[in-house]
Amino acid sequence: MGEGVLYRISGPIVVSRKTSGLKMNEEVRIGDEELIGEVIEINGEEAVIQVYEETTGISPGTRVSGTGNPISVELGPGLIGCTFDGIQRPLVVIRKEQGIFIKRGLNPKPLSRDREWEVDIHLKKDDLVVPNTIIGEVEETSLIRHRILIPPGVYGKVLEIIELPGYRVEDTICIIEDKEGERREVKLFHTWPVRKKRPFIERLPHEEILFTGQRVIDSIFPLAKGGVAAIPGGFGTGKTVTQHALAKWADADIIIYIGCGERGNEMAQVLEEFPKLKDPRSGKSLMERTILIANTSNMPVTARESSIYTGITMAEYFRDMGYDVALMADSTSRWAEALREISGRMEEMPAERGYPAYLGSRLAGFYERGGRVKVTEDRIGSVSVIGAVSPPGGDFSEPVTSHTKRFVRTFWVLDKDLAYARHYPAISWTNSYSGYFEEIAKWWEAKDIPIRSLRIRVMETLTVETHLRQIVQMVGEGALPEKERLTLKEAELIREGFLQQNALSPVDAYCSPEKQYRMLKIILDFGERARDLLERGLPLFKIIELPIFSELKRMGVEIENKEIDKFDKLAERVEKEFETLKEEYG
Ligand SMILES: Nc1ncnc2c1ncn2[C@@H]1O[C@H](COP(=O)(O)OP(=O)(O)OP(=O)(O)O)[C@@H](O)[C@H]1O
Ligand SMILES: [Mg+2]
Repeated sequence: MGEGVLYRISGPIVVSRKTSGLKMNEEVRIGDEELIGEVIEINGEEAVIQVYEETTGISPGTRVSGTGNPISVELGPGLIGCTFDGIQRPLVVIRKEQGIFIKRGLNPKPLSRDREWEVDIHLKKDDLVVPNTIIGEVEETSLIRHRILIPPGVYGKVLEIIELPGYRVEDTICIIEDKEGERREVKLFHTWPVRKKRPFIERLPHEEILFTGQRVIDSIFPLAKGGVAAIPGGFGTGKTVTQHALAKWADADIIIYIGCGERGNEMAQVLEEFPKLKDPRSGKSLMERTILIANTSNMPVTARESSIYTGITMAEYFRDMGYDVALMADSTSRWAEALREISGRMEEMPAERGYPAYLGSRLAGFYERGGRVKVTEDRIGSVSVIGAVSPPGGDFSEPVTSHTKRFVRTFWVLDKDLAYARHYPAISWTNSYSGYFEEIAKWWEAKDIPIRSLRIRVMETLTVETHLRQIVQMVGEGALPEKERLTLKEAELIREGFLQQNALSPVDAYCSPEKQYRMLKIILDFGERARDLLERGLPLFKIIELPIFSELKRMGVEIENKEIDKFDKLAERVEKEFETLKEEYG
């Protein structure tokens, strides 16, 4: 085993001398307390180590010993419903024994060693196996069947299935003779180095929407299953509320939520709130399909740095079972700050705003691990990645935002003016975009919803509105012709009646595809009828006075997803009010 002796300590970064046998990214133990660290640089006899715990009291001369393994996570039954820290230490266990803080050197196993799982075995003797072949299935929660997989790199034939009434994660379930003729024992769990992406056969094009029930997202700036998105937004513009809404409502099988460097009380809120939340599809607790990773601002920055890798590795593992996984990281800016602090302590040459020169490639490496992939010849899985970005001072030209923009295809920009005006979600329609719209339009069209034409009309109206608002600022609304004032009113309906959505209203928090369509259609239909009457010489104020005009702004909170027929009645009302008006004016 490799070893070394510390000679320099700078917060979470320590340097060992007389190092021999340590490898890059190897997990090490430091001193008698056995603090956990990772080798992040080797220069001859010197090794730079990032320590995942407080290093106060550690002095030069302390011994470092290698474990022979890279920093890894445990993958097996028992992950769902858990809360881990950035290096996959289970927080609940720690809390019971130690309170909320993790005691130094404490290293509880991520997966319970005692719990027994009943396995429904799929394989038999002499079956051929490849990586990701399903050995058997475990009912991990009432929502998730955990598939026990042949680990990456193992090809061969089943020599023996070991039948047990209940398996603990360390029990061997089958013995494989691999291609080299070696015996390989496969257990219920295996480990995987967090910094290495799990292999798959090939990337596949995006086909399906990650439906979120958020109108401005699904209908206007959608995300694909396996797509990557970022939510940049200044202080208090709604990044966390949006991420929470996605975690609650997105139609992924598994949710992995990484609270990365956010305030402790915010994370406490997640830890308290999520277990109480109901999965809208099943009515069960959301935690039955969720894994939380908590690295609050008071925990070591090194663990924050590794938290996103820990999260994405678990996401890839569930993807390999054939699931659609959605991973949220709040906030990647706090992660980048951890990277900056570590780099500073290593005395590396800083690049833009003190961030290391490799900030861009690290961000790329993270987002690249999202995707929709062929896992085996007959299995597809996906990881969708949604990262929040908090540009200091709302300055979107800063490095984390500008690099992120290069790697994501969907960008939901939170606008501080919208947030200030309490237009929620404050997703800007002028600066946001989705590169998945074309691929996803087919999904809507299969439901007979002509999303392309609807979206074009929405975007045209909003674009013209932006332009008209500039004119209004100079000359006042009264100077505009009625036709253009109608456009402003139509845009108002789109903004207040469709784009705004109240995350706190039980009726409005989630909007079904059908409801999104009916809302859009009725708003656009109103505009068309109004235009027709205007051309016949009717004054605009008469149209705006129609009771239906303000009623359309309340559809979201008033009509439930299951009351779609109410839209027929509403459409009848629109027609009737317009007919009456027409008759009045002959
Ligand atoms: N969709 C929404 N519906 C209702 N209220 C919202 C919504 N989004 C944001 N808000 C309001 O804005 C406040 C701030 O939102 P949030 O905490 O998500 O911002 P943030 O961008 O994460 O802030 P920070 O920069 O501090 O992390 C919330 O407490 C809530 O009152
Ligand atoms: Mg926040």
